[in-house]
Amino acid sequence: MVALGLKVYVTRLIPKPGLDLLCSFADTRIWEGELPPPREVLLQQVKEVDGILSLLTDTIDTELMDAAPNLRVVSNYAIGYDNIDVQAATERGIMVCHTPGVLTDTTADFAFTLLACVARRVMEAVRYVREGRWKTWGPMLCLGYDLYGSTLGLIGLGRIGGAVAKRATGFEMRTLYFDVNRQPSLEEELGLTCVDLDTLLRESDFISLHTALTSETYHMIGAEQFKMMKNTAILINTSRGQVVDQEALYEALASGEIAGAGLDVTDPEPIDADDPLLKLDNCVVVPHIASASIATRTLMATMAAENLIAALQGRMPRNPVNPQVLDKR
Ligand code: GLV
Ligand code: GLV
Repeated sequence: MVALGLKVYVTRLIPKPGLDLLCSFADTRIWEGELPPPREVLLQQVKEVDGILSLLTDTIDTELMDAAPNLRVVSNYAIGYDNIDVQAATERGIMVCHTPGVLTDTTADFAFTLLACVARRVMEAVRYVREGRWKTWGPMLCLGYDLYGSTLGLIGLGRIGGAVAKRATGFEMRTLYFDVNRQPSLEEELGLTCVDLDTLLRESDFISLHTALTSETYHMIGAEQFKMMKNTAILINTSRGQVVDQEALYEALASGEIAGAGLDVTDPEPIDADDPLLKLDNCVVVPHIASASIATRTLMATMAAENLIAALQGRMPRNPVNPQVLDKR
């Protein structure tokens, strides 16, 4: 059932079930490199395509859309879509889709993994053992911070923030949140308290970011915000690196203004291997892997493929970012 003449470009190898769906539907080309396709390659490859399955590492802007006159859908293999100029896509009648929902629990699990890792100094402890420095049981060795009974501050209470809040109940945490949208039913169900940002920054032991990157959230955590945090506070970021002013974060960690940070995302990505943040014991940086479970990445692949196929068939995809495009057609 290959739809005759339809061409699709996939910008990286993703789990096979997603690729199989696309290949059985359209003439599908896949960039198989480990690194993203270079810009010139991408601009060249999209010339005749009807659909692109993109990653968050591909910049889908007006230049690219202009290079792809037949383009009708950009299906992003991610929940975030800050790599795509959605307004320009909408103006051109190009549908944009993403992969929300399927990665919620996996990402929330990982936010908690990072939180526990930093709070209990797991990386330092592992290094200590590997370096042969473990001589005896030490009463003062690697003392960290308790999760149970602490105060967690969630910035952003969308799907992922909500799933983190649910996990916090198991650790008997008191959970505060800051969001433009209030969630009374979640507040009741999980015992959450909605507060303003300053209160959250002042009162939280752990601050976890779960907001999309927009012009409003860019550098929303900077020098001024670190000053308000406790000296024992730990910042966890599984959202987007640009939400945090990374230089201010370095200063806050190096000066002891806050106690630690766990970053799944950085600005830029990848972070430079010589970045001073990587020299700090109280900062754990991992390569943007919060949604990286086998099951979830497979679901993301089929979801992104199904979204793309639906859009090219003129149907409403399950996860459109700009559904108004279909109404316009
Ligand atoms: C990952 O960061 C995503 O947006 O899915
Ligand atoms: C530690 O292992 C303890 O028994 O307290």
